[in-house]
Amino acid sequence: MGDAVTDTQASGGDVERARLTVDALARLPGALLPILHALQDEFGYVDDAAIPLITDALNLSRAEVIGVLHFYHDFRTTPGGRHTLQVCRAEACQAMGSDALVRHVEERLGVAMGETTEDGAVTLRDVYCLGNCALSPAVMLDGRLHGRVTPDRVDAILNATVEAPAGSTR
Ligand code: FES
Repeated sequence: MGDAVTDTQASGGDVERARLTVDALARLPGALLPILHALQDEFGYVDDAAIPLITDALNLSRAEVIGVLHFYHDFRTTPGGRHTLQVCRAEACQAMGSDALVRHVEERLGVAMGETTEDGAVTLRDVYCLGNCALSPAVMLDGRLHGRVTPDRVDAILNATVEAPAGSTR
């Protein structure tokens, strides 16, 4: 990566991997989205250090790349936790109480939507329809869908999957 690159994801091999990914897709028409998706698939998020690679390859400004990155809800710009809990906030789930569910999980995990718990265990994300509207409210933990989720159920789902923090008496 160039001189201006900071050193987050940018350590040696990762930079080269990111560069190869960018270069492999740069000639596609509308290459920006495929590149962002490919970087996220490979690293789990799009690191700031990858932005100069993209701007150079596609002859775009940093603002243009960042604008697209932040416009689409699915792109992450920081590494996620070991587990990802997504809570659906679209219409059907909202009608069935997803707002209360969101408040409950934010309180339980001590983070807001989009954040990762301090111990790196769980990233909490909102999502707009998981295709499970008939069984709303819905959540997805590590890609596994759960329907008709109450605060008690989401606690049980988390307890069954997420390791308790050290010293916890859960
Ligand atoms: S609205 Fe939540 S799953 Fe469709």
